[in-house]
Amino acid sequence: MTSPRVAVLISGRGSNMMSLVRAANAPEFPAQIALVLSNNPSAAGLDLARAAGIEARAVDHRGFGHERKAHEAAINAELRAHGIEIVCLAGYMRLLTPFMVNAWHGRMLNIHPSLLPAFPGLHTHARALAAGVKLHGCTVHSVTAEVDCGPILAQAAVPVLEGDTEDTLGARVLRQEHILYPAALAAAASGHKFPSPDEMSYLANPLPWKGRVP
Ligand code: GRF
Repeated sequence: MTSPRVAVLISGRGSNMMSLVRAANAPEFPAQIALVLSNNPSAAGLDLARAAGIEARAVDHRGFGHERKAHEAAINAELRAHGIEIVCLAGYMRLLTPFMVNAWHGRMLNIHPSLLPAFPGLHTHARALAAGVKLHGCTVHSVTAEVDCGPILAQAAVPVLEGDTEDTLGARVLRQEHILYPAALAAAASGHKFPSPDEMSYLANPLPWKGRVP
């Protein structure tokens, strides 16, 4: 049995994407990174992916004006053309419409730099510092229609230390992201029976994630 084909969607530097690529290079990793896509042609992660031998393409959202769904349809066409079975969002800075969320229901993961449900949205490290929390961290969750609200698959916590800045705290969290995301993808990919991309019945009868982090 071949391992599920994964696409990683990025908008910027792509450090989480590269953590997935590196993990998936291990022969025992139960998923393969088959494609990297970006809405931003100048995303630094595209070159990193290519240098690592991964097919990487940009589908520039600016060519679609306000037609958010048309852009998603173009992304989706790439995913289908490459036989993708799991999508990992990794710093993908586009709000998804119900079209995309439903098309990948139960097969799309995201990593978020906070311990959800605390601090959904942007500027999570600054908000954690302002709130005075003593623990902060990151979450991998399944993507649903509401942003940063899908079922939590895995979390990692870090302490907030005296004198922390947004940058020092963000760097501490990012180190954990790079460990957590591959572990969560591995758990999801090995614990879940994925319908083939051509098998559309999952739309009518979505399967929940059964992944576990070892
Ligand atoms: C990460 O902090 C991730 O949690 C958030 O966006 C950032 C992306 O960073 N969703 P990178 O592009 O993976 O380096």
